[in-house]
Amino acid sequence: MSTELDTIPKIFDEAADFMPINGTDYLELYVGNSLQAAHYYKTAFGFQSHAYAGLATGMKDTESYVVIQDKIRLVLTSPLHSGSAIGKHIDEHGDGVKVVALWVDDATYAYETAMSRGAKSFMEPITEEDQDGKVVRSGIYTYGETVHVFVERKDYNGTFLPGFKKWDSTYKPEPLGLKYVDHMVGNVELGKMNEWVDFYKNVMGFAQIISFDDKDISTEYTALMSKVMSNGNGRIKFPINEPAEGRKKSQVEEYLDFYGTAGVQHIAVATDNIIETVTQLRNRGVEFLYVPDNYYDSVLDRVGEIKEDLQRLKELNILIDRDDEGYLLQIFTKPVEPRPTMFFEIIQREGAQSFGKGNFQALFEAIEKEQELRGTL
Ligand code: FE2
Repeated sequence: MSTELDTIPKIFDEAADFMPINGTDYLELYVGNSLQAAHYYKTAFGFQSHAYAGLATGMKDTESYVVIQDKIRLVLTSPLHSGSAIGKHIDEHGDGVKVVALWVDDATYAYETAMSRGAKSFMEPITEEDQDGKVVRSGIYTYGETVHVFVERKDYNGTFLPGFKKWDSTYKPEPLGLKYVDHMVGNVELGKMNEWVDFYKNVMGFAQIISFDDKDISTEYTALMSKVMSNGNGRIKFPINEPAEGRKKSQVEEYLDFYGTAGVQHIAVATDNIIETVTQLRNRGVEFLYVPDNYYDSVLDRVGEIKEDLQRLKELNILIDRDDEGYLLQIFTKPVEPRPTMFFEIIQREGAQSFGKGNFQALFEAIEKEQELRGTL
């Protein structure tokens, strides 16, 4: 994987790393219109056309477009007929992340290990082949209807996966510096956080690296609790949120109401230059949560010296936080589908290994403003 990931200190010693994972392989979203979604991620986020599988490649039931930016691969899949399982998924949840695929050296071993430790099967190991070699995949369920697919691709030299062909396009919007998936957050039902923390610990060998409770993260109306699970090499980080009692509906509850079950709340993608990335994203129509101007009046008292120009960060609504190891810059998009469910975070780490706890207050207030507009607070 990338050099920046290799610089992450090995602070995850507690992880019983019986299931080595090399990194995120791909994220598959089930969407209503995969062709248009691919165009959106290319145009707005700077992804590039990568691979395709559908009628033209002999697939009878689905149409998938794969877009790529550095190490991030998004697979956008739509059904071609009514009455399909994918169609039902979209009807129940709207567009959202179905598959969080993990890159492993041995997908059979990963599957058997997870199953022997209590996982629920999604897909037994299968070997798919084409002229470029073979890929073994297997899968287990995680929270809600979300699944982890283990991908073993050491004997494969093709574009993406067998069954996909290279997707060439003359339309190549400039990439925006998005590099890899930094972390991916799941929202689970009230009282279920620890169950899923135990799942990642016992079934997948992850360790808990951070936790927040409702004393850390609460406003007058809303609260949440969160624990962050990491695999042994730190390349896979899954914060898991559950709602906490508040006076009004929390953002996690709102998500659960609209998604219909637990699911992926946000995908955080890393950049080395958040000012440039966010400037371009805004130019291309991506909308972000608004941060009150007064956030910037006192933020440097909290985070100390930073390299970036505060005025630029303020204009772009980028948030700043610091921990013992450095600082980070982050910003959150509005949901990227009609339902107030999944959104993206853009993050630039300057040493900090945490997740922006110091910003949660400002962030929650911003989210509540949006909820108020939607009438769901
Ligand atoms: Fe995040």
